[in-house]
Amino acid sequence: MSSSTTLYGGAQGRRVTVRDLAAAKERGERWAMLTAYDAMTARVFDEAGIPVLLVGDSAGMVVYGHESTLPVTVDDLLPLTAAVVRGSSRALVVADLPFGSYQASPAQALESAARFMKEAGAHAVKLEGGRRILPQVETLVSAGVPVMAHLGLTPQSVNVFGGYRVQGRGQAGDELMADAKDLERAGAFSVVLECVPGDLAQRVTTSLAIPTIGIGAGAATDAQVLVWQDLMGLTPRPAKFVKQYADLAATMDRAARAYADDVRSGAFPSPEHTYL
Ligand code: KIV
Repeated sequence: MSSSTTLYGGAQGRRVTVRDLAAAKERGERWAMLTAYDAMTARVFDEAGIPVLLVGDSAGMVVYGHESTLPVTVDDLLPLTAAVVRGSSRALVVADLPFGSYQASPAQALESAARFMKEAGAHAVKLEGGRRILPQVETLVSAGVPVMAHLGLTPQSVNVFGGYRVQGRGQAGDELMADAKDLERAGAFSVVLECVPGDLAQRVTTSLAIPTIGIGAGAATDAQVLVWQDLMGLTPRPAKFVKQYADLAATMDRAARAYADDVRSGAFPSPEHTYL
């Protein structure tokens, strides 16, 4: 396959669209999604060819220092989303609708999504939940908002689950499959499957025409997503499903210590860092 027919090569010079993602599924091309919360990080991932950037409500933990995603508000995520859009030129930017910003009604979901699209320039939104949020998905899609669905371990429901644990085992797997099919029928352009058994994720992936995006869902999904701080080694105790590709915590620790040592000793700033 030549690079110009791949998701990475084919969309050069313009943003990736939901149609590109649908075409990638038809070709059997897998792709990677990463979270991003600021312009500089977004630029690095965009230039690395990551086709979809998610401004996740995981910002609650990794940006704002909360214990969960529950305290996050639309106003918390709007400036982060705007920064990620400004920092990228190719990636499709998806904004998470935070807890309490869409569950009440389809009208509330549309109001929140419209803010992300008008005020921050998001290209799509993500919502957690299955059949109970179908009216929201239908309203958003008919208003022209691309919707990424999210099933399995949906962190906004952590208090119902009684912790962050694997979902969709046994009978619950059939329910998740039914949810996924209904979300596809309602017009979602993709679905995140978080912390579900690999064989269930495989069955959902082959049953749907829209791409599945796995996180802790094994290797069979059409795409994968990780929180970038997990991937880069900034998270102290990452989950079992995380593969660490860098050790930024150690790199930053070394750099901060070296800088402080240089300041203490007078080695920094040297003449080369001083204006004449
Ligand atoms: O908020 C988030 O980062 C997410 C991903 C982990 C899928 O929802």
